[in-house]
Amino acid sequence: KVTIIRANKMGFCFGVMEAVRLCEDILQDPKNANKNKYILGMLVHNDFVVQSFEKKGFVTIEESEISSLEKGDIVVIRAHGITKEVQKQLEEKELDLYDATCIFVSQIKLKILWAIEQGYDIIFIGDKHHPEVKGITSYAKNIQIFASLEELKKVTIEKEKKYFLSTQTTLNQKKFLEIKKYMEENYSNVYIFNKICGATQERQKATESLAKEVDVVFVLGGKKSSNTQKLYEISKSLNPNTYLLEKEEDLEEAYLQGKSKIGLTAGASTPEEIIRNIENKIRGILDA
Ligand code: F3S
Repeated sequence: KVTIIRANKMGFCFGVMEAVRLCEDILQDPKNANKNKYILGMLVHNDFVVQSFEKKGFVTIEESEISSLEKGDIVVIRAHGITKEVQKQLEEKELDLYDATCIFVSQIKLKILWAIEQGYDIIFIGDKHHPEVKGITSYAKNIQIFASLEELKKVTIEKEKKYFLSTQTTLNQKKFLEIKKYMEENYSNVYIFNKICGATQERQKATESLAKEVDVVFVLGGKKSSNTQKLYEISKSLNPNTYLLEKEEDLEEAYLQGKSKIGLTAGASTPEEIIRNIENKIRGILDA
């Protein structure tokens, strides 16, 4: 008998739910009916979510388009946040601004500002091309950004300085623990700030146990979504039959051949509707 098992934590996280709710509230408020409504960047890293708000009246714009906005236009700041410079540009335009930056992203930013004030040098672990990292790190001059422990090992940590180490919210928890261990064993002058968000940790743990239990794992989510990508890496390292699916069309019948325990997990920005559609497609193939 074939069974489909869902990870015990998957799909929308707190930050994504808040961002979605904020946009829904803006749409429902009658005073906004005739206003131009924009979202700066991808609200969350999921095309389906972005497109559904575009259908309802929001226009997604790039940072380079800020100059064309008019006074009073509604602008929603995406869940990953923005850089200090972009924030300044927006404020100068007298817009009707709404901030969907996830509270966990803001907490890291505030803690880094505190650390700078206290005289720490900042070390940051994350993907420097990701909007969250660009936003957070724009607040700190002389910040050193590393993608991995291997990169971090190459730099000289000066014993007489004090350092503050923080990470992207969606870092792989295991990688974080390796970094922490290495730093603690080699240096006593590094303050390690653990802010991998709870939703990320829960989803990573749930994916780990799922990958060990099933014959094939489907990780559902956007290809640009950092947390989805991490779930994929974790699952793939434990179960070679792991596939990242963005939409129903990405599912191939061959992935299911000979498999009796099918696992499903999803990133923090993947809506339930997408999960359900893909699950239904799997059932359809199995029943055929
Ligand atoms: Fe926020 Fe974590 Fe979600 S940082 S947007 S709660 S994955």
